[in-house]
Amino acid sequence: MKRFNHVIVRRPCKAMIQGITSGLYPGKPDYKLALDQHGAYIEALKKCDVDVTILPPDEDYPDSCFVEDPAVLTEKCAIITNPGAASRNGETSSIEETIRKFYPEERIEHICHPGTLEGGDVMMCGDHFYVGRSQRTNEEGIRQFADILGKYGYYCSEVKLEEVLHLKTGVNYLENNNLLVSGEFIHKPEFQKYNRYVIPEEEAYAANCIWVNGRVIVPAGYPAVLKAVQTMGYETIEVDTSEFRKLDGGLSCLSLRF
Ligand code: GLY
Repeated sequence: MKRFNHVIVRRPCKAMIQGITSGLYPGKPDYKLALDQHGAYIEALKKCDVDVTILPPDEDYPDSCFVEDPAVLTEKCAIITNPGAASRNGETSSIEETIRKFYPEERIEHICHPGTLEGGDVMMCGDHFYVGRSQRTNEEGIRQFADILGKYGYYCSEVKLEEVLHLKTGVNYLENNNLLVSGEFIHKPEFQKYNRYVIPEEEAYAANCIWVNGRVIVPAGYPAVLKAVQTMGYETIEVDTSEFRKLDGGLSCLSLRF
């Protein structure tokens, strides 16, 4: 039975208003509201029986609250990524410092130039890791990632992205063979074997829910997805992420769960 014991989050910094955005969800984030929403997110995680490490804001990196991207943490190893977004590339150093408290040196791996990879493109389903080939994660990054995973008995497969930022922008695994799937991922053959809930287009953002020890955290304001997740049998916790959505960020991007 899968279990997360730890979660790492980073408080949003004031510079988040200059974070990268596609403009799909217009508007500048309201910093004060973002801090409140982040606080509610931490409270929701605590209800899921995990120990939460809270890192301070890092003003050098506007998108640094999206801690999922600079690392991929598994039961057997930690992989420090090489984010494809130039303004985010330096986020790895301070995340690595934190990760050293949880993983021995020999189990900390790295994705190196010219490979790029961001954690938002990685979806773990047991021992199988799906990796999105996106504008942030390239072929060489996936090749290195597959090699690293192979050393630990994991395997991975590539999913080509055409439209969304990261793989988990549109598809998320809720354990027990349950998958939330939206947009360009609905007809992908590799996902047909799961018990899928196909997200209505108007609720596409809510494909990004997270499973944490049997509970599922769902973004507030998406009633069809909320009901579907409850019908799958999960206890749900809603968290408003409106200010992070303006930066194309969601629930999964805001934490590292391991
Ligand atoms: N704003 C989140 C990202 O683009 O990485």
